[in-house]
Amino acid sequence: MNIPFVDLRKQYAPFKEEILSGIGKVLDGMQLFLGENVQQLEKEFAQFCGAAHGIGVSDGTAALQIILRAMDIGPGDEVITVSHTFIATAEAIVLTGAKPVFVDIDPATCLMDVSQVEAKITPRTKAILPVHLYGQTVDMDPLLEIASRHGLRVVEDACQAHGAEYKGRKAGTLGDAAGFSFYFSKNLGAYGEGGFISTNDSELAAKIRKVRDHGSGVRYHHDLIGMNGRLDEIQAVVLRAKLPYLAAWNEKRREHARLYNDLLKGTSVVVPAEHSDNTPVYHLYVIRTPKRDELQAFLKDQGIFTGIHYPIPVHLQNAMEFLGYKQGDLPVTERVVTEILSLPMYAEIDDDEIKYVVDSIKTFYS
Ligand SMILES: Cc1ncc(COP(=O)(O)O)c(C=O)c1O
Repeated sequence: MNIPFVDLRKQYAPFKEEILSGIGKVLDGMQLFLGENVQQLEKEFAQFCGAAHGIGVSDGTAALQIILRAMDIGPGDEVITVSHTFIATAEAIVLTGAKPVFVDIDPATCLMDVSQVEAKITPRTKAILPVHLYGQTVDMDPLLEIASRHGLRVVEDACQAHGAEYKGRKAGTLGDAAGFSFYFSKNLGAYGEGGFISTNDSELAAKIRKVRDHGSGVRYHHDLIGMNGRLDEIQAVVLRAKLPYLAAWNEKRREHARLYNDLLKGTSVVVPAEHSDNTPVYHLYVIRTPKRDELQAFLKDQGIFTGIHYPIPVHLQNAMEFLGYKQGDLPVTERVVTEILSLPMYAEIDDDEIKYVVDSIKTFYS
């Protein structure tokens, strides 16, 4: 068997015609940015999340940066986040001129250890940026309580969490605003780049719209320094065609996770922990084992492609050296990154393929 890490070709068939005809219409009309498809997507995806406002943007990194800038976060400010994430989370903070301050993660869920946040708050702290990594939400209630006590904004990095729920509420509605990525392999992915911002705050939404488009509400009238963070119409066509399938795909991913969990019982690998308040969407299904590198190489020989998300924590990346962190500063994060392995996970993977992956893992340990 040959099992890729994700397989987008299998997903394409049901909406191929719709996408091709939608792209054809966009090209006939030549309204290429922020047109009817973006406007509709903004309504449809905001509604999916249960948020009052949706703003389509160019990518997830831009989404986070735009939110922070619309909150007037910049040089001299600090934003508390995690190091166990894709670098874009911290990069977005740095791009505003603010400084990321990292807390360690909960060793069970690999998500922000909320109990460490308060100790990191200083007079310069302006916001907390929890990351709903792998498709599972951070424990938001205690975090929101800390934020409200200290007058801090909460920005969700929901780039891996389209449709994930916390106590029945969807990611994207839990903080002041949330950034999503539509990177092609996400649970909802464009055929290029795309991103989204959701918020229930009308004033913030209006400012976010301006920051997204060079600080402008009326063409060539620029009220503030913004950026080019617009979503294009062709990606909006793709995303609108896919959106009606997202809930069912997420359910499939949960079923696959349950099957992996069942089949992996009794083996030496640790399966992902689910927080009891959560309905995760398994953007990634991440197991843990001290023999990670050997297992990954063995699985590759069996035709199974896996990933590591992420091998080097953000605080130890060369690009973040200027922040002054060193090995040992975030012990849980630093240990976890040596053990994690993301197994093939996508809605279209079938039970036999999952069984083959697990049988191969069992063979490795036998
Ligand atoms: C957790 C996280 N944050 C931010 C991003 C950035 O999104 P994008 O690649 O669309 O800029 C990603 C996606 O890759 C992500 O996984």
